[in-house]
Formats: sequence, structure tokens, C-alpha cells
Amino acid sequence: MSEWLSPASLDEIARERAKYPPEQARSALLAALRIAQADHGYLPEPLIEHVAEILGVPAIQAFEVATFYTMYDLQPVGKHQFCVCGSVSCFLNDSDGILAHLQERLGIGIGETTADGLFTIKEVECLGACKDAPLMQLGDRYIENLTPDSIDALITKLRTGG
Ligand code: FES
Repeated sequence: MSEWLSPASLDEIARERAKYPPEQARSALLAALRIAQADHGYLPEPLIEHVAEILGVPAIQAFEVATFYTMYDLQPVGKHQFCVCGSVSCFLNDSDGILAHLQERLGIGIGETTADGLFTIKEVECLGACKDAPLMQLGDRYIENLTPDSIDALITKLRTGG
């Protein structure tokens, strides 16, 4: 029984853990933290410690992973996260302009969430789809070749539940 995670998430973590030899429990950390975040919405410190405990690894190892990768959210985030790539190809294709437009449209800064809890803006490292720069990750999909107009359309669509 876990106060943090559903039985389904615990099962999923156990399956990830079983993929590795006993002495390599650390290898399951990435997946276990992803599962925990999907279940809880974000990763507060006690949940990170809980994941470490489940895997039988030192908590510091779980904190190292959770704080290194931008895909982990250590604070509550909005329903929709605009994860805009700021690496070289995107930067050269005006990712800064895209980020500025998003901030102006939503009235929040990078790393912040709108008061209605709908949107969070994040700047992330290369998403591996550089030919379609500038782009963002939104949930499990990429939105490519971003322009101020396409962002406006996207925000409108998400606000109306599209
Ligand atoms: Fe943005 Fe690679 S630089 S996806």
C-alpha cells in the first residue's frame, strides 16, 4: 500500500524494476520517476524519496535524476505544458521569439503556470527534431515549425478544450 501511488503505478514500477539485475536497481529510476510523475502530476520531495525506497536505492540517487532532467516537474504544473526547445537549431530559428510571444500571450514567465492552472511554459534542451525548428513538446507530441500565429491558434484550441 502506498499513500502516494496507485496500485497500477506500483505494478508498473515493479515491472520496470524487474528488467534489471538486483544490483542495478538504479537503472529503473528514470522510468519509475516518470511513472510516479504521471500518477501524481509532479514530483514533490517525499514522492522522490518514496520512489527511491521502492527501488531500494539511496534517496540521493533519485534526487540526482529528478533534478537533472527537464522532463521531471518538481513543482505543480499546468494542465498543458509548453516545453519549448531552446537549443541551437531552435535558437537559430527564433525560439527566443516564440518564448517571448508565449510569455506575453499567457502573462507568465518561463517556469510559471497561469492562475487558471491551464498552462505552464518551460524551456528545454534539444528534443531531437531539429529539422522542424522551432518546436515544442506538448504532452506526448511535438508541435513543429512554430510561429506566433500557430501558437495563438494552439492556445485558443486548448482553452476551448480542443
Ligand atoms: Fe531544437 Fe534540436 S535544437 S529540437
